[in-house]
Amino acid sequence: MAAVPPPHSLRDLAACRGLWFGACVAPTPLAAEPDYAALLRRECNVLTPENDMKWGPIHPAPDRYDFSRADAIVRFAEADGIAVHGHTLVWHNQNPAWLPTAADSRDAAQRILRDHIAAVAGRYARTVAAWDVVNEAVADDGTLRRTLWLERLGPDYLAFAFRAAAEAAPQARLLYNDFGAEVINAKSDAIHRLLSDLLGAGAPLHGVGFQCHLSGTGPDLERFARNLERFASLGLDLYVTELDVRLPLPTTPESLERQASIYRGLLETCLQQPTFRGLQTWGITDRHSWIPGRFPGTGAALPFDEQCRAKPAYHALRTILAEA
Ligand code: G3I
Repeated sequence: MAAVPPPHSLRDLAACRGLWFGACVAPTPLAAEPDYAALLRRECNVLTPENDMKWGPIHPAPDRYDFSRADAIVRFAEADGIAVHGHTLVWHNQNPAWLPTAADSRDAAQRILRDHIAAVAGRYARTVAAWDVVNEAVADDGTLRRTLWLERLGPDYLAFAFRAAAEAAPQARLLYNDFGAEVINAKSDAIHRLLSDLLGAGAPLHGVGFQCHLSGTGPDLERFARNLERFASLGLDLYVTELDVRLPLPTTPESLERQASIYRGLLETCLQQPTFRGLQTWGITDRHSWIPGRFPGTGAALPFDEQCRAKPAYHALRTILAEA
């Protein structure tokens, strides 16, 4: 590995391994908080818009798109040579209120989906390096989640979406992204079958994103490794897309060290996979994390604290990436 000039930021260390390290980002604090923006510039070589490329925010009316917040994030990233990871072109959540009524038939749903992907992925065809094309299509029991898209278009909506994304953004890496599928279980079994079938049907699918929203002691690393291997054996690139490790509040030195060991073990396991492409956390500082609102009484899930000070988890990641 090439020598890394000090300071050894995660961005520098990841780049020297040909990997991504990054986070999701929100445009309001990006514009209003210089320490948040500086932290992202220093530590990240990829950024994912946390919400602003989702259907609701970017396509608020049938005939109207609002690219303003996504464009602000893309401008910030481009100005500093930071890649952009698009999120997400097909999901069951955060859709605009008009969608179910407008997509009231197979033909209407197909047209709306195709037009949306063409407009959004097409706009960022030269700037978004990878897309979460389909997000969370599989339920915890392994069945296809009953979403508007499944109801209107049947299971073929996934291949349709990947083909539309490839047509709109031929240079982008196209991912399937999900949570709760880090180890071998009913859900990851189903996703493995689903992606194998998509590849068998010739869908332009390049990678799989493991969200890794973690708590407690983290995943069994042996089962995580075996799961990564079987997805890699499909020829897919592997991504950790939304890592956070929530802790009971208030934190203690022991809980922060436990968190660091989970971050460390996860990255060490990923680095054993030749097609591992990068790790992104879902936020970079505890000041901006979805966790406290979703899991009251927990938080402190990210590598930097609310004052943007590095935590043991950050040092764990940096130590692993700095190892030869
Ligand atoms: O922008 C509106 C604002 O105008 C309004 O005043 C406010 C109160 O209603 O809501 C704001 O929208 C919120 C949005 O975040 C932006 O802050 C939505 O209500 C809220 O539901 C949304 O939560 C996001 C969540 O996805 C649901 O889409 C979280 O920030 C975001 O971190 C989370 O991210 C997801 C990934 O996309 C997929 N994987 C799981 C992950 C965690 O749920």
